[in-house]
Amino acid sequence: MKTLLSTQPGPIGVFDSGYGGLTILGKIRELLPAYDYVYLGDNARTPYGSRSFEVVYEFTRQAVTRLFELGCHLVILACNTASAKALRSIQMNDLPRLDPRRRVLGVIRPTVECIGGLTVSRHVGVLATAGTVRSESYPLEVHKLFPDITIYGQACPMWVPLVENDEAGGDGADYFVRKYIGQLLQKDDRIDTVILGCTHYPLLLPKIRQFMPPRVRIVAQGGLVARSLADYLRRHPEMDARCTRGGTCTYLTTEAEEKFTESASIFLNTAVQVSHVSLE
Ligand code: DGL
Repeated sequence: MKTLLSTQPGPIGVFDSGYGGLTILGKIRELLPAYDYVYLGDNARTPYGSRSFEVVYEFTRQAVTRLFELGCHLVILACNTASAKALRSIQMNDLPRLDPRRRVLGVIRPTVECIGGLTVSRHVGVLATAGTVRSESYPLEVHKLFPDITIYGQACPMWVPLVENDEAGGDGADYFVRKYIGQLLQKDDRIDTVILGCTHYPLLLPKIRQFMPPRVRIVAQGGLVARSLADYLRRHPEMDARCTRGGTCTYLTTEAEEKFTESASIFLNTAVQVSHVSLE
């Protein structure tokens, strides 16, 4: 059945499987504070990192459809796993059917675009969820733009649970941060640039810096995605005109509201008002 979507301008939608996308939203709002935003976290079904292509696609499609129904004309998938496994299918299969004038953008392309200018050795690592690594999205995108770069993926399955359980600063995190960095650098000691290819990982940045050799540059995505969005809105005035500017941000979660408020404060350093939303 075709959904009836409003043609009125609306907020920019920001979607993540859980809380990680708040790191991206924070940077976007820093750079583009005038716009209105709706953040949707599928906290009830997180993590996506270990789920199959079909499931991540279905969950992400439901979330994007809901954000469109809420008036968004532009949705950012602030989740690497959803960007890796669902973005292309949504752009190809769902947008033409839902509304060909709406847009869904991911976080992988804006990250990859900057990599060519950062690495000197042309050997790059990506730390990400198992799903993102398995999808090979980073190597595929990097090779399209920079065929001379060799790229290695390392899955870090324990990092999201550490962050979600507010253990990113705890002693227990040391073991897993050191472990995955060691496994990545063992693949090639010429790696001079490492992408944090999961929106949760900036929360582990102090520990990642502690255990990463100083010669390695660490690339977090928030600022890159924010700059890329600003550039996109500049290049697409027709989309810019469909994004309202009231400086507000609405938070939605598929989990219990109290739980989101409690955990979101880890990411935002401030309490937020959130409403429950059901996606199925
Ligand atoms: N936010 C997700 C990402 O950037 C990771 C969390 C999850 O596994 O759902 O990949």
